Amino acid sequence: MMRTVAFHLQKGGVGKTTISGTLACQSALNGKKTLVIDCDPQGNISSWFLQTAPAFELADVLQGKCFVKDAIVKVPVVDNLYLLPTFGIGGTLKTYSETKLSEEPFVIQDLVKEVSSDYDHIIMDLSPGLGMLERYALIASDEVITPMTSEVFSLDGLEIFITELQKLRKNLRSNVKHDKIIINSFDTRIKQHRDIYAAAVESGNYKVYQIPVDPVFRKSQEAGKAPQLFKVRGRGMKDTTAKVFDELYKDIWK
Ligand SMILES: Nc1ncnc2c1ncn2[C@@H]1O[C@H](COP(=O)(O)OP(=O)(O)O)[C@@H](O)[C@H]1O
Ligand SMILES: [Mg+2]
Repeated sequence: MMRTVAFHLQKGGVGKTTISGTLACQSALNGKKTLVIDCDPQGNISSWFLQTAPAFELADVLQGKCFVKDAIVKVPVVDNLYLLPTFGIGGTLKTYSETKLSEEPFVIQDLVKEVSSDYDHIIMDLSPGLGMLERYALIASDEVITPMTSEVFSLDGLEIFITELQKLRKNLRSNVKHDKIIINSFDTRIKQHRDIYAAAVESGNYKVYQIPVDPVFRKSQEAGKAPQLFKVRGRGMKDTTAKVFDELYKDIWK
């Protein structure tokens, strides 16, 4: 069974954190014990889901400064949701990945193996770029899903990612699956968006999803809430957004 899923494209601001976090909430709301691993030194998903600073972070576990169980925290946002956090401010993941990580390429994979029997689903939020941290996190995943936006350079970015993934599979003996692309902030009315969608469909054997622009993401992130449960003056997540996450969830973990 596909247990561990990562969201990645080397570009920033395409929705990796938003989609990882929303899917994690979806999984938890569906009654599955879900773990989010924050692999981004900026710690965005951790500041979304946690109001108070936890005692330990992912980098502490990787450096053997604490046990993984001591670093995982229960997320108050929804039942069944857990987080292995990274501190955006004062954290050591960036320094660790630039100094020590090269000596231990399988450290993240080992960590995922260690916790995998305790959770139904594991989701990793990755940082932009394709350095060691992102590569070693990718080989710890069963599946990687690529979010992109309908911008001119996105298709180049997708092609680069596909090429790099092929190298990674060969060089690091990974079987990571890659058959889903998400076009985020998609607007059917815009021709360029439709063209990029068509090109993504043609780029290979990918199922291509469309997530619309939905203010619920920014608002729920600001409020530290699950997008599915967030409502302002009676308005919450768009039906079209909810449908995509339902479909994505089923396609990944059916
Ligand atoms: N579909 C969407 N509709 C509206 N805002 C979005 C959507 N997806 C992402 N955002 C917003 O865009 C910003 C960047 O998204 P983020 O998930 O942080 O990207 P990444 O993790 O790839 O850098 C965030 O402020 C987020 O709230
Ligand atoms: Mg992010």
